[in-house]
Amino acid sequence: MSSKEVIDVLLEEDRTFSPPEEFAKDANANDPKIYEEGEDLEAFWAERAEENIDWFEKWDEVLDWSNPPYAEWFINGKLNASYNCLDRHLKNGRKNKAALTWEGELGETVTYTYQTLYNEVCKFANVLKGLGVEKGDRVAVYLPMIPEAAVVMLACARIGAPHTVVFAGFSPSALAERMNDAEASVVVTCDGYYRRGNVIDHKTKTDKGLEEVEKLDDVIVVQRAENDVNMEEGRDHWWHELMADADRDCEPEVMDAEDMLFLMYTSGTTGKPKGVVHTTGGYLTYATTTSKYIFDLKEDDTYWCTADVGWITGHSYIVYGILANGASMVMYEGAPNYPTKNRFWEIIEKYQVNILYTAPTAIRLFMKWGAEYPESHDLSSLRLLGSVGEPINPRAWMWYHEHIGGGECPIVDTWWQTETGGIIVSPLPGITELKPGSATNAFPSLEVDVLDEDGNPADSGYLAIKRPWPGMLRTLYNNPERFENTYWSKWDNTTYFAGDGAKKDEDGYIWVLGRVDDVMNVSGHRLSTVDIESALVDHESVAESAAVGVKHDVKGHVPFAYVILDDKAEPSEELKQELRNHVSDIVSPIAKPADLVFAPDLPKTRSGKIMRRLLKAIANGEDMGNTSTLANPEIAEELQAKVAKEEVAATK
Ligand code: WTA
Repeated sequence: MSSKEVIDVLLEEDRTFSPPEEFAKDANANDPKIYEEGEDLEAFWAERAEENIDWFEKWDEVLDWSNPPYAEWFINGKLNASYNCLDRHLKNGRKNKAALTWEGELGETVTYTYQTLYNEVCKFANVLKGLGVEKGDRVAVYLPMIPEAAVVMLACARIGAPHTVVFAGFSPSALAERMNDAEASVVVTCDGYYRRGNVIDHKTKTDKGLEEVEKLDDVIVVQRAENDVNMEEGRDHWWHELMADADRDCEPEVMDAEDMLFLMYTSGTTGKPKGVVHTTGGYLTYATTTSKYIFDLKEDDTYWCTADVGWITGHSYIVYGILANGASMVMYEGAPNYPTKNRFWEIIEKYQVNILYTAPTAIRLFMKWGAEYPESHDLSSLRLLGSVGEPINPRAWMWYHEHIGGGECPIVDTWWQTETGGIIVSPLPGITELKPGSATNAFPSLEVDVLDEDGNPADSGYLAIKRPWPGMLRTLYNNPERFENTYWSKWDNTTYFAGDGAKKDEDGYIWVLGRVDDVMNVSGHRLSTVDIESALVDHESVAESAAVGVKHDVKGHVPFAYVILDDKAEPSEELKQELRNHVSDIVSPIAKPADLVFAPDLPKTRSGKIMRRLLKAIANGEDMGNTSTLANPEIAEELQAKVAKEEVAATK
């Protein structure tokens, strides 16, 4: 299907859903006037920052946008993110409230109240200090979904040491690459964790990555699975041993609003991941405010976000935005089908979850498994549903609405990115009329539009953000040039280029269509075609390769690769499997090509650039369009025939 056809299919969906009266009555945002208030950008955010954040010292100026694309927010304001997530709740009546309830895959439950989470965070902050970590030092975190991940992040924030969390599913070399780029010499990891009942040996994987780390001082190891691990004398320390001796008092560091809070690496269109820099005042104000209005957090709510802390969603909407609001959240370690396909619904029933935030890929998986699983559970505690990570097709939206939300819960389809720090396009559940498949409108104060190549407003084109917002990335770590080129050079340097295609309908609703660059979203995980290609050419049998995303019913997209073999290598089924596994080892199992073909050559433009658009069309069984600009048009047809003959059906 061409993107035009995709749009047409999306727009065939014409049902709309108004906020239920009961919901709207008590919603944190229920007056459309909030959009008018947002027109005064600085006044709007000044009020939100006062209302939602505790400052040690108030800012002098809300925004400095005199040097675009470099923005500064809340100039000279002083605050601490961990103070806002913890300390202030000890004084406002939430001391004994559950902050984080963790469920391990084996069924264990641990609840941290705001007080006990505070205790752990202060102790770990002192552990870091004891190891010589100072304000400004970067700390790497390579942890799965265990509560210690949140503890480490908040402890780093407490002492002003930016964290850089690396998704535990990423490979050892991905860890090393990020640590080297961030110049992090301390890493927090664990012995192992559970996935579908098996122990994943995470420490061995960590050690493999650490071999490539240029400057390494300390490794802190959380004991989760009690598997046998190798501990290197002098370098490796057990978390529980360090914590046993740690002092529980740790004053939060006074941070400037523009001090870096964390670094988060994300895939871009060249091989090297980009270190997205988020600062303290703007990010925290943005994450906290969007959480409050979009998730409509209330004192008694139990909120569950199923994302991993290794991604931006886990940063903004598991840790910072949620805890700063003093909410109660659930964190789950494992797989949705372990021990049975009922696991998510059991968790919702057990903790009486009110707000569920998950990804379209998960929803499509549940749909495939069948409605009988959710239907055999009482999900009536749910009052609001959320979706993030990729476009949600109207059919999955309707299924989510009906079978999980009982036909009554509003759905917030939230579009945003690692770079935006928080949600940009989303309904406000007490105000917005929903259209299944559309992320609806920009958050108050934001100006989002769909622009054509020349920057003119269009019905169909590129998604752009035309005004600064507090949660925006400030730069790419040690690479301001790439920051300017990637996001602020397509039109002018005050218009943010998101890299997504979108459509605007006659009511001004935004329909996000997916990436227009060489980035793909696999099960909501962001990967670059280059990550996959570099892993393939790393193999001795491969001369050249090109990876593209192929549409998949459940995962959104899956990687598919074209491989040109080295002259000495022979194509075979075994080699195919070996290459697929090689990518899995080097990048991550999520990056493993669903399939690949051996190609004699790749279609190239006359200037020698691989035509990925064409390769994508071929892999998806779509029309190739115009091939006249190719230097070697015959190869396109040859590949098309090959893909059809070998029944390369990655999507099935
Ligand atoms: C995609 C995840 C459509 C999009 C928060 C974006 C979405 C990329 C949506 C960022 C949505 C995220 N509808 N597409 N609601 N949410 N995306 O940085 O392509 O991991 O550019 O941030 O995910 O992925 P990232």
